[in-house]
Amino acid sequence: MTAEFFPVSTKFISYFKGALPFDVYLERFTGKFTKIYHKDAEADSNQIVRYESNDIKTLYISKNDKISYGNFLYKEIDQFTKGSDQLDKAKIVEIIATALELTYEKIVEDNNELDTSITWASYHIRSALYLMGDNAASTIEIFKALSSDLSLLKHSYLVSLFSLTLAKKLDFTNEKNLVVIGLGALLHDIGHSRLNAELLQKSNLTPREWEEIKDHPILGLKILERSRLIPDDVRSIILQHHEQRNGRGYPNRLGGNKIFPPAKIVAIAEEFCTMITMSSPGEPALSPSLVISRMKSDIGHYDREFLDAFEEMILGPIKPAKSK
Ligand SMILES: [Fe+2]
Ligand SMILES: [Fe+2]
Repeated sequence: MTAEFFPVSTKFISYFKGALPFDVYLERFTGKFTKIYHKDAEADSNQIVRYESNDIKTLYISKNDKISYGNFLYKEIDQFTKGSDQLDKAKIVEIIATALELTYEKIVEDNNELDTSITWASYHIRSALYLMGDNAASTIEIFKALSSDLSLLKHSYLVSLFSLTLAKKLDFTNEKNLVVIGLGALLHDIGHSRLNAELLQKSNLTPREWEEIKDHPILGLKILERSRLIPDDVRSIILQHHEQRNGRGYPNRLGGNKIFPPAKIVAIAEEFCTMITMSSPGEPALSPSLVISRMKSDIGHYDREFLDAFEEMILGPIKPAKSK
């Protein structure tokens, strides 16, 4: 039964006035869903306050309504990105978090432990978003850049989920680290929004075009200049996510232990998410095990210990090599 519904935060529903384009359900008991708001009716704000005071933070929408829910959400985003500074930050964060969650499609099957970690990571991304900007205007500016392209939004969210799950596996579990890693991963490629969109789609780049793409970590920092609340560690992740252990990365060829460890985590999550979601026409998507084995064969690129932990997290414990 649960599989027919997806969760949405009570707060998200409470923000919207007017007719909802979908039915909303409450899970009264495990697996028992009751319709509380009908499509085309308005949500009862007093009742939502009561739900929240009873610690009910999640409501549900039928998966059949996912498209109308998505359209409704993107219409809201469109409205606020058109530039009102009057919106309160909590509402912006809630809309952004909900939009991000909508982009997630399961990419690793049959791994319950990972599923639990992904849910946990999603919660931490929501908390990290509160640091996005110290005022509504800078938050909107960041989100406009992040949502300038749906594939960037989706990539950013996936990388953030997988970076946090790897951070958890590596015991980077204090709250400050998690906020830094979640937000750094979410914003790692925000500089792409300042590049020519056609350049990012091209498969055969000239050396000069390639140099332009390599500017994106620095362009990302420029977008965040006005957001003073964002910690410097988040900026380090953005700047260093393409550095490599062997010193062949960019922009600063840092190498080895000069790379900020959370940036090493994001580098692994980002390559995994890029390869696993890459699809060439007529060709099947790459499997998680093939992606990881390709990453392991790229000797000198990634932190070995982190990559081994990532492999174990995605594929289960690594079997010892057979002795003769
Ligand atoms: Fe990047
Ligand atoms: Fe990326």
